Amino acid sequence: MIVSTQKAVELIQSGNVVAIPTETVYGLAADAANVLAVRKIFELKRRPADNPLIVHVAETVQIPAFTDISSETLSKLINQFWPGPLTLVLPKQPTVLDIITAGLDTVALRMPDHPIALAVIKHAGPVAAPSANRSGRPSPTRPEHIAEDLGPELPIVDGGVCDIGLESTVLDITGSTPTILRPGKITAEEIGDLLGTEVERSPSSRGQTKRSPGTRYSHYKPNADVQWMTSLPLSSHNTNCLHIYHTEKPGDEGSNIIYFNRNYEELARSLYDIYRTADQKNYSRILVEPLPDTALSPLIPAIFNRIERSVSQ
Ligand code: TXA
Ligand code: MG
Repeated sequence: MIVSTQKAVELIQSGNVVAIPTETVYGLAADAANVLAVRKIFELKRRPADNPLIVHVAETVQIPAFTDISSETLSKLINQFWPGPLTLVLPKQPTVLDIITAGLDTVALRMPDHPIALAVIKHAGPVAAPSANRSGRPSPTRPEHIAEDLGPELPIVDGGVCDIGLESTVLDITGSTPTILRPGKITAEEIGDLLGTEVERSPSSRGQTKRSPGTRYSHYKPNADVQWMTSLPLSSHNTNCLHIYHTEKPGDEGSNIIYFNRNYEELARSLYDIYRTADQKNYSRILVEPLPDTALSPLIPAIFNRIERSVSQ
């Protein structure tokens, strides 16, 4: 059910959950100070209780309730990247609700770069907001995806198609070396240049899921078998198979052949929509052209991470 920004503020203030657009993906927002409201997020998404949520703020005055703002690293990152697709894992204030942090002593914070999200959070106060999908499904990048997963009654503020299409970079700055837990549009290089330090990439952020403790939650795999292509371009295109090219121009054309012509922003924006459509159309396989060197686009590590985690082993 589509609602206005004003209605979303009222609903959040009265303890309800509302889907709101951000520049990355849609979030399912609840008042970060209301335990019962935050509990509704876990119930609706069927999210495991030990997977913590990101708190979203709209203004710097909203930060001190969640973390000590005196850190120089934090100030630099905020000045450079907020509002924007960078989530920071920080030491939490004792008053932060345990249901949000899943009992950890850290809290994840982000200021989204989207006028609707900022307006809602400015008026309703900080919100806890995971991606607005059923747990185990791809993050929603359009309002239709949310209704598909969470039902037609859920209030949604319509912001159209999300601009980035992949979730924010998650950066842990609680240790001696800043560590990327999840790659996103803001890259390790950009962060390293700003801070003048090395930035660690955790195994899960490189797409290797097996040894990483942070990836114990099932990640979305379409029903179709996702595989990287082994020869390029393919000489024949099976109709049961969806083909994704980005650099090599395919010889054929058809509804099962998608070509991004090196437009990695468009590939990131469409990836989850393609996965959802592939399931609706009952494709048995999705073949993806292997990704080139990261130098071609800053989005490549994030795209690689999301695709690699859905590749059938
Ligand atoms: O772009 C985004 O980040 C979107 C939009 C809605 O803002 N949100 C999002 O939330 O992707 P979610 O809940 O789907 O993913 C949050 C990730 C999870 O992998 C969670 O485990 C991790 O952040 N996370 C949250 N709090 C954490 C903490 N205190 N320490 C480590 N990881 C944390
Ligand atoms: Mg999510």
